[in-house]
Amino acid sequence: MEKLGVAIIGSGSAVPTTSLDNQGLTQLVDTSDEWIATRTGIKERRLAGADESLKTIATMASFKAIAAAGITAADIDLILLATSTPDDLFGTACQIQAELGATKAVAFDLTAACSGFVFGLVTAAQYIRTGVYQNVLLIGGDILSRWVDWQDRGTCILFGDGAGAVILQANESDRLLGFELKTDGTQNHYLNLAYKASTDELIPGVKVNKGNFQPITMNGKEVYRFAVQRVPEVIDKALFHANLSVDQIDWLILHQANQRILDAVAQRLNIPAHKVISNLAEYGNTSAASIPLALDEAVQQGKIKPGDIIATSGFGAGLTWGAAIFQWGR
Ligand code: COA
Repeated sequence: MEKLGVAIIGSGSAVPTTSLDNQGLTQLVDTSDEWIATRTGIKERRLAGADESLKTIATMASFKAIAAAGITAADIDLILLATSTPDDLFGTACQIQAELGATKAVAFDLTAACSGFVFGLVTAAQYIRTGVYQNVLLIGGDILSRWVDWQDRGTCILFGDGAGAVILQANESDRLLGFELKTDGTQNHYLNLAYKASTDELIPGVKVNKGNFQPITMNGKEVYRFAVQRVPEVIDKALFHANLSVDQIDWLILHQANQRILDAVAQRLNIPAHKVISNLAEYGNTSAASIPLALDEAVQQGKIKPGDIIATSGFGAGLTWGAAIFQWGR
């Protein structure tokens, strides 16, 4: 029988070694541990140092996911790297392919900000469902510390660096039970890491824009409002496609943006707190990495077991948001 279903069979994660706690941030901006903890739930975050890069942490997470899945790098057909902070604007997935020795794999980056992992999950699933590929390595990784304005207390308290990875494999039964993806570009201006052009005249009459990317800008209130409204809706839609009800969810893994967002979404959906996975106190918002990082920790801790039903949702810049319902393991 042809295997056209999708199973998510292994996970791995990696974070930089350096940790910066809220107290440390008070040396940079006018803030306090108490303010950050009560408004966001974040206590500390990891920051990539001089000898760390997206490639190094994403490769480490990938090796662990490959081992957990019981495959080898040579088995991988496709590597998808969800990131907004590549080491190279031409992409970082190819560098990871080389590091892993995944010689058969085609590799490319995918950018959908904090929704990147969920968008990547659905993208990977399409290649498997069409029978094109059997083993896909999906990585969510970001080093937002490169692009944070460390003088802006409205944003610098939120973000951290990390990487998480999963292996998706062709399977007789389909464990990706439902999904829904959304974009609203009219709200793009609420969260940006924008390129700012500066005109350079090459020869008379021929101008090019040689600029730089600018630090992250955000309208926190609008992003908060968007998340608590849209995330429950999109999870409901994904559940509908999966033909499941809320009480059949074993675990809710939301993009780890803010504990108040996690609480509000769970409350709106009537999901009890003990089913909500949260590790943002330790890592802050790691963008595309946050969902696979939280997933992998819960798997390592023995919380998530094969057969458990997981509802996950990513949301963020774009604005983009999406949800997927899947059953863990083969
Ligand atoms: N430390 C201390 N005070 C701070 C502060 C900080 N780090 N940041 C802002 N403040 C101050 C503000 O200046 C304001 O002071 P004022 O009342 O004197 O004007 C007050 O605290 C309240 O600020 P406000 O922006 O209204 O706070 P908030 O409750 O909306 O919380 C966020 C701010 C950023 C924590 C919150 O809006 C949020 O989490 N939004 C979602 C952001 C997000 O998740 N983005 C990523 C999505 S992928």
